[in-house]
Amino acid sequence: MAHSISTSGTDTYVGTAQSRVDGPAKVTGQAKYAGEFAAPDLTHGYVVSSGIARGRILSIDTAAAEAVPGVLKVFTHANRPRTAWLDYNYQDQVAPPGSPFRPLYDDKIHYSGQPVALVVAENFGTARYAASLVKLTYEADAPTTDLRALEDAAYVPPKKRSGIKPPPAPWGDADGAYRTAPVQLTNHYHMAVEHHNPMEPHASTVVWEGDGKITVYDKIQGVSNSLGYITGVFGMKKDDVHVLNPYLGGGFGSGLRPQYQLFLAVMAARELERSVRVTLTRDQMFTFGYRPDVRQTVALGAEADGALTSIRHEAISGTSGFEDYQEVVVNWSGVLYDCPNVALDYRLAKIDTYTPSDMRAPGAVTGVFALEVAMDELAHQTGQDPIDLRLRNYAEKDRTQDKPFSSKSLRAAYAEGAERFGWSARNPEPRSMRDGRELVGWGMATGIWESMMMQSSAQATLTADGKLVVGNQTGDIGTGTYTILTQIAADALGLPMTDVTTKLGDSKLADAPLAGGSWTAASSGTAVMRACYDIAAQVFTLARGLDDSPLANVDFARAVFKEGRISVAGDPSRSIAITEVMAKGGMDKIEATGSAGPDSGHAQDFAGYTHSAVFAEVKVDEDLGVVRVTRVVSAIAAGKILNTKTARSQILGGVVMGIGSALEEESMLDHTIGRFMNHNLGEYHVPVHADIHDIEVIFVDEEDKANPMGVKGLGEIGIVGTAAAVANAVFHATGKRIRELPITIDKII
Ligand code: MOS
Repeated sequence: MAHSISTSGTDTYVGTAQSRVDGPAKVTGQAKYAGEFAAPDLTHGYVVSSGIARGRILSIDTAAAEAVPGVLKVFTHANRPRTAWLDYNYQDQVAPPGSPFRPLYDDKIHYSGQPVALVVAENFGTARYAASLVKLTYEADAPTTDLRALEDAAYVPPKKRSGIKPPPAPWGDADGAYRTAPVQLTNHYHMAVEHHNPMEPHASTVVWEGDGKITVYDKIQGVSNSLGYITGVFGMKKDDVHVLNPYLGGGFGSGLRPQYQLFLAVMAARELERSVRVTLTRDQMFTFGYRPDVRQTVALGAEADGALTSIRHEAISGTSGFEDYQEVVVNWSGVLYDCPNVALDYRLAKIDTYTPSDMRAPGAVTGVFALEVAMDELAHQTGQDPIDLRLRNYAEKDRTQDKPFSSKSLRAAYAEGAERFGWSARNPEPRSMRDGRELVGWGMATGIWESMMMQSSAQATLTADGKLVVGNQTGDIGTGTYTILTQIAADALGLPMTDVTTKLGDSKLADAPLAGGSWTAASSGTAVMRACYDIAAQVFTLARGLDDSPLANVDFARAVFKEGRISVAGDPSRSIAITEVMAKGGMDKIEATGSAGPDSGHAQDFAGYTHSAVFAEVKVDEDLGVVRVTRVVSAIAAGKILNTKTARSQILGGVVMGIGSALEEESMLDHTIGRFMNHNLGEYHVPVHADIHDIEVIFVDEEDKANPMGVKGLGEIGIVGTAAAVANAVFHATGKRIRELPITIDKII
């Protein structure tokens, strides 16, 4: 049996539905988040944000704030400690090329909402009140925040960002093939800027331990990134900084890079020699990275039967003045469909906002939306069924990397998704389906995300009582990492899950990168599996060497670990309990580490992607302009599914977020003052319970050969394609082709 974790070939937990092992702690309030940790000498910082987008600070009057009883200090660029920014060129694990933003560095304002002061007081209320008394005067310059208002010359290719594949070189002659194509289609697409709004706002609690040592609780998707940032920026020794983040109230990419509250809290703690907590307000969640504004043009040339002859996809993305943020937007158009002439282009334009950030399936959400709406337009124009059109152009290898796919069960996803949705009953004619006074529309789209491995290690410790502890530094960003690692470890050693504890989010644990990019299951999972196999080998060797061992003269290959015992394959009478082995062998504990990375398995030989087929039903009230997404079926091909329950939850969450993109989420920039104006959850809408109806998730069989476990990851694939499926359903319902997200009432009426 391929890809089983257990030595016996049959997994007990992997592949089954398991509830989150961290669930009880989370729902009973015992799970603590970064802003909830305390210390006896804890002080509270409150951030003052810039009201202008570009210019410089002329004066900061902090006298009134400092006069408030309980205020300890007001930090500004004028008095910030000189020890900070020791290493001006420090780059965090996912920093784009450029010069990272340095809070309180000087008097320059780079974006609206930039932190300009930190008020530290004995309690939060005092800090917040005193912050309102800080008076700033500025010399303001006119900001440039409108991508569309820039001259073409401002659109430049980005400097290479580590981990991000630039667009591939063009192949064939896309322009020539387009000119002679019987069917031609060129359109512009746009989705709104979106801001990160996880339930937990960003926070850092820095506990002053004395002697220059600190313990830091930081909202981050991997403590290794905060540790690197603190040691790099403040010149602190690794041993003097302990970073923890056992739980996150949602990551989605917002916690990949250390945010400015970490800098401010560490700076203040070192200067005051006190513990400091800085929590950002919901408003301030709109003062750092966001899903960027991207202008897109997709041009498809095709034969009359829909066979693609030319694909051109161009994207221009906004970034800050100081960093070349970039994501993979256009490459998908060269991967998803087989086309002899393809030209893809991606450029940046610098605007006066903070640097955009990764946000769930960064780039794919944006680029695949444009491509998949364009494909729906082509289907309509050529009279093809949208699925048939995609099958006609199905790619059998990845031409952007010139590699075969490690696996691709997208055909099965189309078929099983269509079957479950009832797609065959669809009348292709727009405006042909009704439910009472509402128009009904059925749309579909494809989703794709890259499957990646990142260098990760893990540790495992088996103790005399037969219990196992595994773990590493990575974060469980709400995806279920604690649970899947516990399942993997339990199966690897044949233990009940209740005898396995997984520890994450602690910089003293084994080295591991950020949790992101949907790479954690494959990367940390493989590392944990290997650490446990190492333990298995050690405990087996110990068992075989015991006097009168039932495993005498048995090869490790024949060992079966099951229910806390080691036995011989095919001869279950020869068996010994692990606790007995430990006791007779005189061992308190057995330890091991394992590691995995991009070179594990055959990842380099293949192009690895997850795929999805997303089907959406909308009901549209044309009089009111209201769109409801009444049904979604998301059929996912993501290799081996470790936990069908947490996996389903990931896809549900992705679909909900995709519905948010399609209908609601939109950060609105006022270009005259360069400020996101709807910086609160009253005016920045995310789906609420009443917006979400039936969502069905299907995992199709897919045997993947890229990495040792056959796992592809699925934290991101659920969102990709969802907004396009909704937009295509809206077209089918109304006959209105809406190429700008979100699809708000004004666009329907
Ligand atoms: Mo994800 S956007 O890599 O957390």
